Amino acid sequence: DTIKVFAPATVANVVCGFDVLGFAVNEPGDEVVMRLTNKPGITISQITGDEGRLPREASKNTVSASVQHYLQHLGRTEVGLDIALHKKMPIGSGLGSSSASTVAGLFAVNELLGRPLSTRELVPFAMKGEELACGYGHADNVAPALMGGFVLIRSYQPLDLVALPFPDELYAAIVYPEVDVPTKDARQMIRNKVFLKDAVTQWGNVAGLVSGLFMKDLDLIGRSMQDVLVEPVRSILIPDFEKMRTLATDAGAAGFGISGSGPSVFALAGSRETARKITFELQNHLHRININSKSFVSQV
Ligand code: HSE
Repeated sequence: DTIKVFAPATVANVVCGFDVLGFAVNEPGDEVVMRLTNKPGITISQITGDEGRLPREASKNTVSASVQHYLQHLGRTEVGLDIALHKKMPIGSGLGSSSASTVAGLFAVNELLGRPLSTRELVPFAMKGEELACGYGHADNVAPALMGGFVLIRSYQPLDLVALPFPDELYAAIVYPEVDVPTKDARQMIRNKVFLKDAVTQWGNVAGLVSGLFMKDLDLIGRSMQDVLVEPVRSILIPDFEKMRTLATDAGAAGFGISGSGPSVFALAGSRETARKITFELQNHLHRININSKSFVSQV
């Protein structure tokens, strides 16, 4: 009656697809150990790796709160659960940290109850967790964390998720400069109105990126990774963002940008070696300007 579930980090937006595109990586990720108990209700008995930053109270923690929604939906409020959450990725990093925990929790409870819902059907409950974490229930972290690979959120209402194909040899180089950028704040910075000419550029890029994924054309994927709407505002919060772009491109990145709401940045590359070279160059630079960083290289 105990299950251990890992859920991966995710790169949301994929530069041009704000709130509508995301992909999962192999590492890092979070782990949830969940146990059925005899006492109705959810208890969080342990959280590790969060430096005391996450709420222990079941109604406020995104994992237990989304599991609670799930149990209510199924009319299974008699179920008792004990949750241990092991955070193995940085919080507030732009790597879908809250999403990974929530997704691990929902996947765990769904397995413990004999899989009443499909993985895809768990997405709306995970979105509730995101709403609690940052004020808006965006799906571009939780959907790829649950479904794996690249996911397009074609529509939110009704929710329409499309699993996209992608090149066999595709690697993500992720660098997390250790400065704090809460998603909530990073969302508030964005302008609500956009110019039509910018919208034209943006949807051209989104269509180009999706085409590139289908055609397995890394060059098209890379040149579509441009964002004229959100990145110009958010990149201000990221140390030496433009310099990092130059370094990544010089090291062979197909495309480069902010992961989710930042401060992590990522690049896509055609080989693990290139991805490693990119993280090396970026971390070296951050080190020179006295900013600690972590890096991850993962096949998509
Ligand atoms: N699409 C979301 C945003 C992702 O950019 O705010 C947050 O991880």
